[in-house]
Amino acid sequence: MSNEMNNQEQPLIEVKHLKQYFDINTGFFQTKPLKAVDDISFSIREGETLGLVGESGCGKTTAGRSILHLYKPTAGEIIYRGKKIATKSDIREFRKKATMVFQDPYSSLDPRMTVADIIGEPLDIHKMYSSQEERRERILSLMEHVGLNSEHAARYAHEFSGGQRQRVGIARALAVRPDFIVCDEPVSALDVSIQAQVINMFDELQEKMNLTYLFIAHDLLVVRHISDRIAVMYLGHMVELADADAIYERPLHPYTKALISAVPVPDPKVAKANKRISLTGEIPSPLNTPSGCPFHTRCPYATDLCKEAVPVFEEIEKGRFVACHRAKEINS
Ligand SMILES: Nc1ncnc2c1ncn2[C@@H]1O[C@H](COP(=O)(O)OP(=O)(O)OP(=O)(O)O)[C@@H](O)[C@H]1O
Ligand code: SF4
Ligand SMILES: [Mg+2]
Repeated sequence: MSNEMNNQEQPLIEVKHLKQYFDINTGFFQTKPLKAVDDISFSIREGETLGLVGESGCGKTTAGRSILHLYKPTAGEIIYRGKKIATKSDIREFRKKATMVFQDPYSSLDPRMTVADIIGEPLDIHKMYSSQEERRERILSLMEHVGLNSEHAARYAHEFSGGQRQRVGIARALAVRPDFIVCDEPVSALDVSIQAQVINMFDELQEKMNLTYLFIAHDLLVVRHISDRIAVMYLGHMVELADADAIYERPLHPYTKALISAVPVPDPKVAKANKRISLTGEIPSPLNTPSGCPFHTRCPYATDLCKEAVPVFEEIEKGRFVACHRAKEINS
């Protein structure tokens, strides 16, 4: 981009029509595609946090991993700072700028490695120091950023509590000086009492290091605090995307309405405005997704059209994207 104006408008990450299918063995030499992510599009501005929510199995982790090219996307494009990630060398460069913090701090860190080596490994892989002294200093500075002290450096991951392990995981993710981090339910395995501390740390690190986050969670309350905007997924599809407050105060998609009405709301006015919708029926299998709107088997507003035609994910009000044939009608 040539001028400053365009630079400001250009998102850091653009996801266009991303699909991630897995071939599943269904019998003798037969496979079927499991559509874990099925045509999602959105963008994230520099310094923004986009929350990504939805029930278990809807494709949040898969979406995060495909965006980072940890899986080769089945279809679609990932655009970083205006440039499509296309070649192996693009992927290599992107990996220095985009990284992931995992859900389970117990299984994602090698218990036989010391904290210093866990944090130092990405520095080694990307040859990010010119002397052992510099390597040591980088590791200690990263530890300090996440609230660990130098005495922790020679200890092993298995000696730590969940919260401390997650700090180690975050320091490791920060080692390459990324500007984009996919945070995959980074607090859901932690005790409720320390979840807020770790979330606050993500907030502070974002300020200090100008980070951009895709913050995955199934708990809507966790993402509300940290997110600027929130995207809601259902069965591999994106059903709604809006400013975080708007999603809570006036959800437009029937599925979002159901998710929100399941969350206790302290404000009675908001509670009244959000008519209670409870979800009935099981989530269909992503191996056998319903025709038309993926939510039609559980949606109280479904009509015949919903069974046949896939609703387009479109901007129905400024900044509000919804995939529902009846969105305007049921919200007017
Ligand atoms: N490597 C894989 N091979 C085959 N199927 C997979 C693979 N990874 C995920 N899936 C399937 O893809 C779908 C989406 O899974 P994913 O882990 O992305 O969901 P999720 O939204 O992160 O769920 P959770 O909230 O439980 O973490 C699921 O049906 C899952 O079984
Ligand atoms: S398109 Fe139809 S089934 Fe899907 S959410 Fe809208 S009303 Fe419900
Ligand atoms: Mg997941």
